[in-house]
Amino acid sequence: MKILALPGDGIGPEIVNQALAVLDKIRASGFECKVVKMPIGGAGYEAFGDPLPEKTLEEAKGSDAILLGAVGGPKYDELPRHQRPEQGLLRIRKELELFANLRPAVVYQELLKASAMRSSTVEGLDLMILRELTGDIYFGQPRGQRINNRGEREGFDTMMYSESEIRRIARVGFQIARKRACKVCSVDKANVLDTSILWREVVTEVAKDYPDVELTHMYVDNAAMQLVQNPKQFDVILTGNIFGDILSDQAAMLTGSIGMLPSASLNKEGVGLFEPVHGSAPDIAQRDRANPLATILSLAMLLRYSASRGDLASKIENAVKKVLADGYRTLDIKQEGAEVIGTNRMGELVCAEL
Ligand code: IPM
Ligand code: MG
Repeated sequence: MKILALPGDGIGPEIVNQALAVLDKIRASGFECKVVKMPIGGAGYEAFGDPLPEKTLEEAKGSDAILLGAVGGPKYDELPRHQRPEQGLLRIRKELELFANLRPAVVYQELLKASAMRSSTVEGLDLMILRELTGDIYFGQPRGQRINNRGEREGFDTMMYSESEIRRIARVGFQIARKRACKVCSVDKANVLDTSILWREVVTEVAKDYPDVELTHMYVDNAAMQLVQNPKQFDVILTGNIFGDILSDQAAMLTGSIGMLPSASLNKEGVGLFEPVHGSAPDIAQRDRANPLATILSLAMLLRYSASRGDLASKIENAVKKVLADGYRTLDIKQEGAEVIGTNRMGELVCAEL
């Protein structure tokens, strides 16, 4: 298996290093893979003047899976849009057609107290946000800025989904639900948006092929409220790119630490890009303070979804749980009575457990 590591910016390199150390442990147990490292984001811009350098994209296209740290930082805020780190991420998603973005939000019993929510509201929470990742207002044309007929500037973007784009993400949603609690809640804004009216129609059509899965629909504003009020009602939340972007950050906070959450972005061949949900956290970069667990858990998702090695994925997940149960915490999840440790030590403990 060929794995491409894209450390990126900010805390990216240090957390990816910890995940690669975990991968070394897994390899020692007989799993064969080749790992290549390349720059993306701000690092790509600095090395080659491009947030998604040609070589990186080429290597990505020839890889079976990609492990990404994070991109972005205040240093790059003044760059023109096409050179900004985020563009590297958006382009690699589009180029590899990584349309299915899985963002689990799971509350670990050990971290229950780290959540700002009442324990009874989030205890045992296990939901999956399935976000469409290569369409919607993120990529719709036309977009831009222009001078309108009153002589003032106006900005515009196009929200757009084709039937086939909705159908393929809906199918993934129903299939994932079948491996879970068999419930899909499709989130849209069909009371206002034409795009959402089509979304709802197509999802309803696809549902006919999955009679064993319960389908409900919810408007996005209500979903935002329900996520806070009663998040345990959800199993799989199926939604478009922009709504999924927003709701997945919200769901992350239910769990207490965004530093714990992995994600997978898959195409139809099962090639995937795996990355922590959190960003590049430039304020704590290179200070041995970042939580590497979301990246380590992203590696577990990589093994599960792109290598079909659920057994190895579970091993890593159990090692993470054990380290938490033993009372070790990084700063973002610190708790009374627990020992606060740095990025490197957290990685070492997971390796030792493996
Ligand atoms: C995410 C991020 C990205 C997005 C940014 C960095 C472009 O917020 O992965 O959720 O909006 O998709
Ligand atoms: Mg986001």
